[in-house]
Amino acid sequence: MHDTSKVALNVKKILCFALLRGQPARLPGSKAIGWDFGVFEMPKILDGVAIAAAIKLEVAEEVRALTAQGIRPGLAAVLVGNVAASEIYVRSKVQTCADLGLYSELITPPDSVTTEEMLDLVAKLNGRDDIDGILIQLPLPKQVDTKALLDAIDPAKDVDGFHPVNAGRLQAGRPALAPCTPAGVIEILKRSAIPISGQHAVVVGRSDIVGKPAAMLLLHQNATVTICHSKTRNLGEITRQADILVAAIGRPGFIKPEMVKPEATIIDVGINRLTTREEFDRFFAGDAKREATFAKRGSTIVGDVHPRAFELSSAYTPVPGGVGPLTIAMLMANTVRAARMRRGL
Ligand SMILES: NC(=O)c1ccc[n+]([C@@H]2O[C@H](COP(=O)([O-])OP(=O)(O)OC[C@H]3O[C@@H](n4cnc5c(N)ncnc54)[C@H](OP(=O)(O)O)[C@@H]3O)[C@@H](O)[C@H]2O)c1
Repeated sequence: MHDTSKVALNVKKILCFALLRGQPARLPGSKAIGWDFGVFEMPKILDGVAIAAAIKLEVAEEVRALTAQGIRPGLAAVLVGNVAASEIYVRSKVQTCADLGLYSELITPPDSVTTEEMLDLVAKLNGRDDIDGILIQLPLPKQVDTKALLDAIDPAKDVDGFHPVNAGRLQAGRPALAPCTPAGVIEILKRSAIPISGQHAVVVGRSDIVGKPAAMLLLHQNATVTICHSKTRNLGEITRQADILVAAIGRPGFIKPEMVKPEATIIDVGINRLTTREEFDRFFAGDAKREATFAKRGSTIVGDVHPRAFELSSAYTPVPGGVGPLTIAMLMANTVRAARMRRGL
């Protein structure tokens, strides 16, 4: 068969397959056929590792300049008990401080610590001039009143951005320490030159840590924002209107291809660990690279977006390697920002 006829046949097959599946199909090579049978590009992978590295370089530069003026930004990281995942997170935060030249202190109260003892610790850290940021790794043991503790942190040192004063300032559009993960989402969009202004951003999830602040930050960037949650009716109808779709749900692969508008930008905040073969096959059957990771570690992670949904997008954050790396980078940036703001710099 002549080469061009072969190509035409392949295109036809793909179109038919697309119609049968009721989904857009991807042509071999760099183009794909969309719902309207227009042609669109392969999705761009938004590389969170590279973006986080660039932010860390900038932070290190700022730390050098401040240190030269006699101000070395400092972070106190409080890790209660022996929760393995928390230990890994906190140690990597402390290590990143060292890498970027920030001062850091790891404080490790025992699992039996009381609310009063923790409040006392926070009061001491609030009063220290060498500490610009206070991070209390969550979750805390049951006997500790987490809200009381987070509210006791000096808002000027609240580098996680969880204090109601910072939440209020963020909403009012005043200078605030914004939560790190949502701030990272904005950095990814901006540094990837993805327009936000005038776009319809749909945020699925309304937690105080991710969903709400992400929506507020997108609003401040002039997006038209819709926030969805577990009681939202016709969720797919709403997510299909998104130019920018932010998934912060905590449910593996929850956003399916049919919930995505072709050419949307997808930001997948979710981190869900898959440990069983059945779960693995639901998302990654036939993916040799994932298979190797799964065989080696006995687990792999998937976001809140089904991997097949990414195929429809114009750009997306992978999991892992998308939003995740930004969280620590933004924590470092917040600590330096807190050091400046506290001194009126
Ligand atoms: N990349 C990072 O560094 C980073 C940082 C933080 C979190 N995360 C990940 O991000 C995800 C979300 O975290 P989170 O702390 O925001 O979780 P969360 O506090 O559990 O909030 C989940 C949100 O999703 C909504 N939701 C749950 N089921 C839903 C459904 N069927 N339909 C629509 N909405 C639904 C919930 O709605 P309701 O409010 O109605 O219950 C809630 O608002 C998790 O996977 C977490 O691991 C990643």
